[in-house]
Amino acid sequence: MTQDKLIQLLAELSIDEKINQMIQIIGQIYEKGAMVTGPASQYGINEENIRLAGSVLGSLGAKKLIKIQDDYMEQHPHHIPMIFMADIINGYRTIFPIPLAQGCTFNPDLVKEGAAVAAKESAAAGLHVTFSPMVDLARDARWGRVMESNGEDTYLSSCLAKAMVEGYQGKSVKEKGKIAACVKHFAGYGAPTAGRDYNNVELSERTFKEDYLPAYKAAIDAGSELVMTSFNTINRIPSTGNKELMREILRQEMGFTGVLISDWGAVQELISHGIAEDNNEAARLSIEAGVDIDMMSMIYCNRLKRLLEEGIITEQMIDECVMRILQLKNKLGLFENPYKDADAEEEKRLILCEEHRSLSRKLAAETFVLLTNEDGILPLPSEGKKIAFIGPYIACKRIHGSWSLFANQEDSVSIKEAVEGSGYLNHCLYERGCDLLEPGIEIPEFGEVFAKSVLTEEERQELLYSAVAAAKESEAVVLAIGEHPSQSGEAASKADITVARHQIELLKEIWKVNHNIIIVLFNGRPLDIRELCQYSKAILVAWLPGTEGGNAIVDVLFGKVNPSGKLAMTFPYSVGQIPVFYNEFATGRSYEEGDRTRFHSRYLDIPNKPLFPFGYGLSYTEFEYSGVELDKNIMSDNQTINAVVEVKNVGRYRGKEVVQLYIQDVKGNVVRPVRELKSFQKISLQPGESKKIIFSMNRDMLKFYQQDMRYEVEAGLFRIYIGGDSTTKNVAEFHYR
Ligand code: GLC
Repeated sequence: MTQDKLIQLLAELSIDEKINQMIQIIGQIYEKGAMVTGPASQYGINEENIRLAGSVLGSLGAKKLIKIQDDYMEQHPHHIPMIFMADIINGYRTIFPIPLAQGCTFNPDLVKEGAAVAAKESAAAGLHVTFSPMVDLARDARWGRVMESNGEDTYLSSCLAKAMVEGYQGKSVKEKGKIAACVKHFAGYGAPTAGRDYNNVELSERTFKEDYLPAYKAAIDAGSELVMTSFNTINRIPSTGNKELMREILRQEMGFTGVLISDWGAVQELISHGIAEDNNEAARLSIEAGVDIDMMSMIYCNRLKRLLEEGIITEQMIDECVMRILQLKNKLGLFENPYKDADAEEEKRLILCEEHRSLSRKLAAETFVLLTNEDGILPLPSEGKKIAFIGPYIACKRIHGSWSLFANQEDSVSIKEAVEGSGYLNHCLYERGCDLLEPGIEIPEFGEVFAKSVLTEEERQELLYSAVAAAKESEAVVLAIGEHPSQSGEAASKADITVARHQIELLKEIWKVNHNIIIVLFNGRPLDIRELCQYSKAILVAWLPGTEGGNAIVDVLFGKVNPSGKLAMTFPYSVGQIPVFYNEFATGRSYEEGDRTRFHSRYLDIPNKPLFPFGYGLSYTEFEYSGVELDKNIMSDNQTINAVVEVKNVGRYRGKEVVQLYIQDVKGNVVRPVRELKSFQKISLQPGESKKIIFSMNRDMLKFYQQDMRYEVEAGLFRIYIGGDSTTKNVAEFHYR
């Protein structure tokens, strides 16, 4: 449809029709017929909303959505198609690893492939928009939603934000198998005070703009068609009613012209934030901030008309929002084809097809981070060993993240199934050893569902006893433990990030009879794993790997795949260090580990150093780095400097290495981080092979928000570090003049 036609259509709409284009309601209402007294009434959704709502969320399935669209358009006065949106953050039915795990691949191309498969499967199921990528910078492991992010680093998150938008949208969202991206949560949601979800966010303007905003910008520059508001405050103003954030920063400075949708109920939450007196003020603040769609709060549809009649808002303000919504429908091609790619046969053919499963398996294996590997206990031999596979995650098929809303765990491959299907000729024993959750713990899931352990004390003892017996007679133990999938994700903050006590007890009992323990950790966040390190020889962080997780883990355990993951988020020594991240600041009294004098920036009871730093991850092979060579030592204006290192594989296995480049601005007119990731290259080397890696550096990498908030370079001394993690001391210097 041409723009003129859209303008004409807008002019023909009644005010009720316009306002209902600006609301989004749950699709289940349409699935069960329009039961206003049923699920709708609890949300205050009325008949008119069901007849005229501009979009729905949370429903998927080609047949279902075609019917909903047909019924809806037939009765709509102007036959305007609705938009179907949902949370497809790590796959639709072929489930990929959680985004935090995908961050550990340092492989944007592979992450983009995964997003493209998620788009293909969900588009065939009738989806138009996914509420992804979530690019909130995450430096606090207490916050449950770190699992949805790509970690603590601005540059890495920006690279992956771009990759995911491109994977979802392709060159045009109208293309077959493509869906519109909705980058979220704008903005700064990843820094809630005390790591408690939905809590306020206190960031300096400089930190907000320099560290937190770039990843959203990267998604918007990649063409993300939507942005979602965040639940938190910025500068003590909730994002959803924050005019400066949305009109000045998002729209003017960042140039975003697409649809701004609120998060679930966030318009109404302006009242509980204490910034809106009532629903009228919540509606006013939100539309003044330029929020186009009110997700599930019903404030817009119940209040905007009255505000218009009272002259508090103008119809032009409503038209601006509705036009953006109609333009999105037009970009999706819905006026010509309201079903877009919905096709039940295609959906059936694509879902969990071999190609998608093998990509999920490949991507999962690249997310795993090998943290320890004493005595080279890994990889395990493919035959001739007696191995006890123990733990609640050995036979578990629920190995996907908590936002895998359409996953069917029966589709997943457990570790046990993978070992049995691998053809490896070892003598394997399998024991659960304990429940995932410790006794007495209840984890709220979606709706009225709670995850909890139902074992009796006697059953628990039996599990423990047979696990220890299996460990005792085996040469090695693979212990698969960790968090329940619902212990991370939304509303899943934790003050204690240690591994559950009953799992540590199992570990210690096994350690008494067998020290050859390899831990496979399932987690949605960095955890305090000091005791795991103490009572094991190897730790492989598997995160929540998705459908092919078991196969991917077995591929790595037995050496078919050499692990190459690098931490996208620091593993703290303990929760007391949080927030802890690699690009910290020197302070006026920096502390060298081991210094026993008092007056330094340090703790009396724990070290400053985290347990495992950002960018860290072992391989089954070793990589040697030459020193850093620069082709010049002075950079000025638009000159570039080439930094060169030679990396050699000096081990016995072919392996991938993420060569990381960090820059330190030694002195600035504001304090500068001790170092910042500015580039990386993932390479593959055969044993004995070496490769020259060249990084071209330019002045843009040196910019920062100066004292006067200009984003510019300042002359001075810079250091370049190039190595295999954020602690590398492999350094060279240059001046910017
Ligand atoms: C949730 C989340 C958001 C999600 C939305 C729709 O509250 O904050 O990430 O996309 O609701 O499910």
